[in-house]
Amino acid sequence: MEQFHYRMLEDKIRLDAYNAAIRKTVRQGDIVVDIGGGTGILSMMAAACGAKKVYCIEASEIAIIASEVVDHNGYGNVISVINKDLRDVELPERADVLIGEILGSFGIEEDVLKLYHIAVEKFLKDDGRTLPRALSLFAAPTYSRILQEMTTFWDSISGLDYEPVKKRLEHLVVIEEVEETELLEAPNLIGQFSLKDCENFDINQTTRFTFSRNADINAYCGWFSTELCEGITLDNSPFSPQTHWKQIIFPVLPAVSVRKGDSVEVCISSLHYGDAILFNWFSDFNLSGELYKRQGISSLRLKVPDKVTDWFKPQNSSSVRLSKKGLKMRDILSGIRVDDTLTSIKKRLSEINTEHDAELITREYLANGWLETF
Ligand SMILES: C[S@@+](CC[C@H](N)C(=O)[O-])C[C@H]1O[C@@H](n2cnc3c(N)ncnc32)[C@H](O)[C@@H]1O
Repeated sequence: MEQFHYRMLEDKIRLDAYNAAIRKTVRQGDIVVDIGGGTGILSMMAAACGAKKVYCIEASEIAIIASEVVDHNGYGNVISVINKDLRDVELPERADVLIGEILGSFGIEEDVLKLYHIAVEKFLKDDGRTLPRALSLFAAPTYSRILQEMTTFWDSISGLDYEPVKKRLEHLVVIEEVEETELLEAPNLIGQFSLKDCENFDINQTTRFTFSRNADINAYCGWFSTELCEGITLDNSPFSPQTHWKQIIFPVLPAVSVRKGDSVEVCISSLHYGDAILFNWFSDFNLSGELYKRQGISSLRLKVPDKVTDWFKPQNSSSVRLSKKGLKMRDILSGIRVDDTLTSIKKRLSEINTEHDAELITREYLANGWLETF
């Protein structure tokens, strides 16, 4: 069994919160759909609350284990395990309750918003309930000791300097524990979503922090808080006991020294890129009146490796070709002329993307040096 299922099942804070919320939400005789059912744990909790039928939809092969565990625990007559991507599933009836835990360390990076949107449309009755109900995302500037150690690690390996790796760390999203004492200022809200009627699957939020003391900042720390049902929330905030999610770290490397009264305006945004969700974090520091810009763009999938060597694992090597949209993008990009303005390029991009995505694509191209202004 994959290790991440073990880590999730071992996380008592997560399971106790879900169990309490399922008890409060699922009623005798309910039809329940569990999206991303994993080993079937949430489906079995729902069945234990008297659900008449539970559809446990799981895309990966862990569904085989789920089926056996469900039968072994005597729930085979209530729970149907469906080993498919939920996008390919049709059900014979609509559900009273949609449950699921598809949360990453910053909430959205496993595409929970889009998957809930699809699942609500396909599976839920109009007056049905979703569990979770809502998701909020937070960020705060931090000085992460672990990130500092990761940075110095590359200074000398058997006496060799790995600067080419070190300079890329600024664009690596890291999942590690951040202690409350490592936060430099109080957190700000970065995004808030309802899981029953969410139509926007990305964040794009600018927020400002003013520093109340001299400090070094080497990252923003992010986390989520989710309202599972009325009165029950679950979070991976550094102010709460640690869970398997730890926290997400968006590096600002090398670290920036700030003085009391200095401020930073940071725009944290996400971008759907094929199957992956990329993050951008653009900082505008005001250091005693001097403006100073920094940009971080996650260029790898948000799957954080246990070993640093995993960063260099090749991506999926299946063959690819340009889709219809890709061909249109190619036409737009190859049609750029020297007298074009960014606004006109964004306008053309927004003909095949949402305006929000066109904006993000333009910024990403500029930041990566694929597009330059002069
Ligand atoms: C965070 S795990 C949670 C597993 C289980 N519900 C639990 O609480 O232990 C999320 C699961 O969702 C599954 N998943 C992700 N996207 C899916 C999709 N589009 N359709 C079906 N399952 C999906 C993953 O394979 C993974 O097993």
